[in-house]
Amino acid sequence: MNASDPALQDEAPLGLYTRGAGQAREWWRVTPSERAHMYRIEHGQGDDGEVDIDTEIDLDNLEAKLLKWRREGFVSEAQRADEARATQAGSTFSAALQRAVEMAREAKAAQARPKTHTPTVRIGPIDLPRGEPNALVPRVNAAYLFTGRGDDIVQDIVENRRVMLIGHTGSGKTSFIEQVAARADYGVLRANMNGQTTIGDFVGFWTVKGGETIWVDGVLPVAMREGHWLVIDELDFAEPSILAVLTAVLEPNGRLLLKERGNEIVEPHPSFRLFATANAAGAMSAYRHLYQGANLLNEAFLDRWRVYLFDYLSLEEETEVLLRTLPALTRPLAHTLAAIAADCRAAFAREDLASTFSTRRLIDWAELMLRTGDVERAAGPAIYAKVSADDAALIRSVIRHHVIFDA
Ligand SMILES: Nc1ncnc2c1ncn2[C@@H]1O[C@H](COP(=O)(O)OP(=O)(O)OP(=O)(O)O)[C@@H](O)[C@H]1O
Ligand SMILES: [Mg+2]
Repeated sequence: MNASDPALQDEAPLGLYTRGAGQAREWWRVTPSERAHMYRIEHGQGDDGEVDIDTEIDLDNLEAKLLKWRREGFVSEAQRADEARATQAGSTFSAALQRAVEMAREAKAAQARPKTHTPTVRIGPIDLPRGEPNALVPRVNAAYLFTGRGDDIVQDIVENRRVMLIGHTGSGKTSFIEQVAARADYGVLRANMNGQTTIGDFVGFWTVKGGETIWVDGVLPVAMREGHWLVIDELDFAEPSILAVLTAVLEPNGRLLLKERGNEIVEPHPSFRLFATANAAGAMSAYRHLYQGANLLNEAFLDRWRVYLFDYLSLEEETEVLLRTLPALTRPLAHTLAAIAADCRAAFAREDLASTFSTRRLIDWAELMLRTGDVERAAGPAIYAKVSADDAALIRSVIRHHVIFDA
């Protein structure tokens, strides 16, 4: 080692080296000397700060001393701080891991439990009465993570309130309702209002079959009569005629009047529940430019719902979701990917990015990464090809930053 190299001097191990505690505490202090390439070393015992050895040595000598001190059990303050940090990180990590283990056990137990044996199912802190297993009950996604954001909504379901979930695309609105229904055995019907559902599909229509004119119920009366949960997706794109029909049904126990069928009244089954999701309604109206064609839902209409803002999951929650969905991922990898998504969302909130970063996109990207083993190649079809060239460039730089510095 060349002691005259100034770069090496910058890295010289200055600081305090100690062993023992209280009166038995012994220390060596290393400070730069006023003489070039030399170090001052001082020795003392106890806490009174008294120095019994004070001398100057060169770097080679200092290195020999450091080795000797390490053998004798002296530890530098920097090392102690590192160890404390590692212990702290270790305990945070094991607490998180413990929670994950419990949740995984719970999910497994829930799957193994014969469903019909309990009259209720517990979701978060709430007991939800069970429905009847039927072909429309969604499949349980064992990787699904119930977070506190859903507790009030489950209570609203128990109380038969109309629930609207608003939030950016892929923040988990639809899947939340589906996963509650999957666990509690309720059938789910969905109607998407973004150009696909006509009033006929929604309410019903007359048609001719085998020479006979028959009435076909739309998705709303089917759900009401049979006690399914109806999720109206992208309600902020619905035609006014559909909103008008809905308004009547929105009252608790609100009935549906089928004018086309000579004013037949459809009574809601006790299990019937009505949900809506929207990207740009209410508190999300500021983002209407991102969801072109979305209508402003008026306040009188919104007041008939409990409206919940569904934000993206937190960094920790999303890391957990990635690990549960793709068990082949390691925790540091999942954490890095979730941090990239969080950074992109922050850039979106600052309007540096025009597109947001959904949980759906994140999972898809991670899945593709596990297939290709290549971060960039996976980002092509999962991210870059879906956004503008400017956005792709910024997202690429966010990814590079994390992939290089978190590794
Ligand atoms: N809590 C969660 N646990 C596990 N996975 C989740 C969770 N939340 C969201 N996801 C994942 O994110 C995906 C997208 O969620 P979802 O389809 O519910 O979003 P959305 O808000 O309805 O989006 P859009 O507005 O585009 O309809 C889901 O398929 C699921 O894989
Ligand atoms: Mg949805």
